Amino acid sequence: MSILEIKNLHVEVEGKEIIKGLNLTIKQGEIHAIMGPNGAGKSTLSYAVMGHPRYKITKGSILFDGEDIKDIPPDQRAKKGLFLAFQYPVVIPGLNLANFLRHAYNAVKGKDITNKGEELVSVLQFQKILKEKMKLLGIKENFVERNLNEGFSGGEKKKAEILQLAILEPKFAFLDETDSGLDIDSLKTVSNGINKIAGPNLGIVIVTHYQRILKYIRPNYVHIMFDGKIVKTGDYSLTEELEEKGYDGIISR
Ligand SMILES: Nc1ncnc2c1ncn2[C@@H]1O[C@H](COP(=O)(O)OP(=O)(O)OP(=O)(O)O)[C@@H](O)[C@H]1O
Ligand SMILES: [Mg+2]
Repeated sequence: MSILEIKNLHVEVEGKEIIKGLNLTIKQGEIHAIMGPNGAGKSTLSYAVMGHPRYKITKGSILFDGEDIKDIPPDQRAKKGLFLAFQYPVVIPGLNLANFLRHAYNAVKGKDITNKGEELVSVLQFQKILKEKMKLLGIKENFVERNLNEGFSGGEKKKAEILQLAILEPKFAFLDETDSGLDIDSLKTVSNGINKIAGPNLGIVIVTHYQRILKYIRPNYVHIMFDGKIVKTGDYSLTEELEEKGYDGIISR
């Protein structure tokens, strides 16, 4: 079983400290929810864990099975089994989703990204994998023929991300506001998809503003993040307390 330990993490963006001594431990198989007001640093945390160059770790460590990964590049982190679903997914014109997913699969799961001659799976082999995952998630076949996120609705972008998650089979996934902009049916589809992918081999961190997605995907732990730190941790009942009292009623500022 793998373990991701974030210890006394400090992160700076554009010279300003955003994460201010954050501690969080996630084991494979666990589901953690992070809630917190706008600007608390939730997205910053996800980016820093993935190794986005703009987010500078000035102190602390990110231990993946005991090895500090804070200085290794994002593609190596992905190869180790980290996955991040962005709050604002990118548009890549001209690249269809199926091809994007195949490249991602070969890059993350293959031995050598630079050696194009040694792709892990061929187009045909990948089609099989893709079909299987789409069936699992209840995604229609023509969906992957579309260009990546080009003209995708908000809900479709989120579905594409969950498909990517299913294909890459990471050990740890950070899902940043995967529920935002989803209508009631899409929220169910996406949540069902995540539940199908969840299991003993995946540790999930769900960043969300609302209790509703956590009704479908029951977290083992709920963390409240405020001003760059986790200020409270509890179980699902903490989300109920939060709905009732708001952040002011929970955090003593
Ligand atoms: N690239 C950046 N350049 C400048 N400031 C940034 C950058 N990224 C984040 N920040 C600042 O860091 C703080 C935390 O932002 P972050 O996006 O991590 O918050 P969040 O908790 O995800 O908020 P939200 O709930 O609104 O998504 C904010 O004050 C934000 O303006
Ligand atoms: Mg955010």
